[in-house]
Amino acid sequence: MENFRLPKGGKIEIAPSILSADFGCLADEIRQVADCGLTIIHLDVMDGHFVPNLTMGPPLVKNLRSHFPNLILDAHLMITDPDDYIEPFVKAGADHITFHIEANGEPEDIIKRLHDMGCSAGLCVNPVTPVKDIEEFAELCQMILVMTVNPGFGGQSFMAEAAKKIIDIRKMVGPDVRIEVDGGISADTAKTVVEYGADTLVAGNAIFGKADRKKAIEDIVNSYRN
Ligand code: DX5
Ligand code: ZN
Repeated sequence: MENFRLPKGGKIEIAPSILSADFGCLADEIRQVADCGLTIIHLDVMDGHFVPNLTMGPPLVKNLRSHFPNLILDAHLMITDPDDYIEPFVKAGADHITFHIEANGEPEDIIKRLHDMGCSAGLCVNPVTPVKDIEEFAELCQMILVMTVNPGFGGQSFMAEAAKKIIDIRKMVGPDVRIEVDGGISADTAKTVVEYGADTLVAGNAIFGKADRKKAIEDIVNSYRN
């Protein structure tokens, strides 16, 4: 397998979502979580069409890339036509790109194009989407992303039923593919998803919504270690 910057599955990583950060001092916000040892930064890209919100595009990724050359930039594309935008995001410096199975385009082609550009590929399922919809593409991916909220906004409540899909996906993909879980992850919910088999925990509000980021991260880590 190609040498992607996203590490293969196994070690549990917390990926802070900057959606809940203060964009007015974004570099400082990211530096705080990087100083706590976190290496994967989750970027929520929304097009105002696939989801009813607008966030960031390739120019921001380009700036983050130049400020933080060593961090792994994990772009979650909540956009209707990922095929049209993967190249600008890779050129801007995204290390990993996840797109939705519910979006337009041929998943296999998009995954192959990402690999040809040296970028690892992820496929995301919304809470209502069954696991079988990604079955034929899962083994091509480096990551499967399980949404535990309806995408569009940070700070929503964890959907426990949707998280159970992680169990079946872990059986399907084996240990090397990362399973990322996104939405309502906190010190109250992290242990459950880790037990189900997730190894990449997106946390927005549970980190950037707290004044003490170091303690917020430690609280999450301690919740699944104990
Ligand atoms: C939701 C995004 C999430 C979100 C997570 O559409 O994909 O990454 O920012 O935020 P919290 O952790 O606050 O639920
Ligand atoms: Zn996300």
